[in-house]
Amino acid sequence: MEARMTIANGVLSAVGRTPLVRLNRLSPHAELAVYGKLEGLNPGGSTKDRPAALMIRRALEKGAIDRDTVIVESSSGNMGIGLAQACSYHGLRLVCVTDSKTTAQNISILKAYGAEVECVTTPDPETGELLPARLKRVQQLLASIENSWWPNQYGSRDNSDAHYQSTMREIAEALEGAIDYVFCATSTCGTIRGCLEYVKAHDLPTQVVAVDALGSLIFGNTPAKRMIPGLGAGLRPELCPIEMVERCVHVSDLECVVGCWRLVRSEAILAGGSSGAVVSALARLQSEIEPGSTCVLLLPDRGERYLDTIYSEPWVSAHFGDVAHLWEDAGQVRRRELAEPVGV
Ligand SMILES: Cc1ncc(COP(=O)(O)O)c(C=O)c1O
Repeated sequence: MEARMTIANGVLSAVGRTPLVRLNRLSPHAELAVYGKLEGLNPGGSTKDRPAALMIRRALEKGAIDRDTVIVESSSGNMGIGLAQACSYHGLRLVCVTDSKTTAQNISILKAYGAEVECVTTPDPETGELLPARLKRVQQLLASIENSWWPNQYGSRDNSDAHYQSTMREIAEALEGAIDYVFCATSTCGTIRGCLEYVKAHDLPTQVVAVDALGSLIFGNTPAKRMIPGLGAGLRPELCPIEMVERCVHVSDLECVVGCWRLVRSEAILAGGSSGAVVSALARLQSEIEPGSTCVLLLPDRGERYLDTIYSEPWVSAHFGDVAHLWEDAGQVRRRELAEPVGV
């Protein structure tokens, strides 16, 4: 029997409780039970809806902000959009500090929600990274705007709490704690910290694998140009649970792209670049994982915001050369090849 639909009281009540989907086709020859958590089905389109809604709700409850407060945050994408959604819902003004790598589409989405957008174009002279320059601009705005408040997604425990209280809890409850691996893309490290703390507090037998970008500085890598938004950071965030992370896989931009192609061609899930990263990280570790293991892939956002990059032939060939054969290898599933009946 179909589960009864519940009615959400306002859009923020619809954040979370995203589907956990069994992925049977991604690794058909590995004897693993693989699941994907479809975070792109949050109303603002990504996993960041969870911390954004919680940070604003708690700040209102604690009286750290009031209806006249101006929220100022640095984000080039999903957190900005999650905050824009939460601020619009609560009638708050948001100034989002983006940078020259932020896509035109994300800027349009932010503006559609009513956010004001500031764009930083000059990297920090010391590191050559845009993130420290964005954070400096946030500090200038906080100093110049009266009654302004910075959620600080890179340091706020509400960011990681959101994933402790909802993302990881939902997974653990759905699989009754029997989870061997969770693959988690990292940027602010809110997701991975929340998941790790939940695993520890509930004594689960789960290894949470950090999936970071090659060239990101979170886990002490050599800095390098990165093109996939939402994955990696140009510094180690305050939230980074470095002492708790047992395993980290660094993935290249091309691996992110190919992981996305595999996900859409084998499982019909159109997802963003960091989802491709976790798919490729699983492929990398697959041969070391004991048969029979249960692996959960956190899929942070949807693919529509990447149509001009990851899913664009001209963009891909401009950056990676002729990799058309990799599309072929991504393997479209044909009906006749399916071992199990096709669900309707
Ligand atoms: C698409 C995407 N994937 C992964 C992440 C990483 O999540 P976290 O910031 O919790 O480390 C982000 C964060 O912005 C994101 O936007």
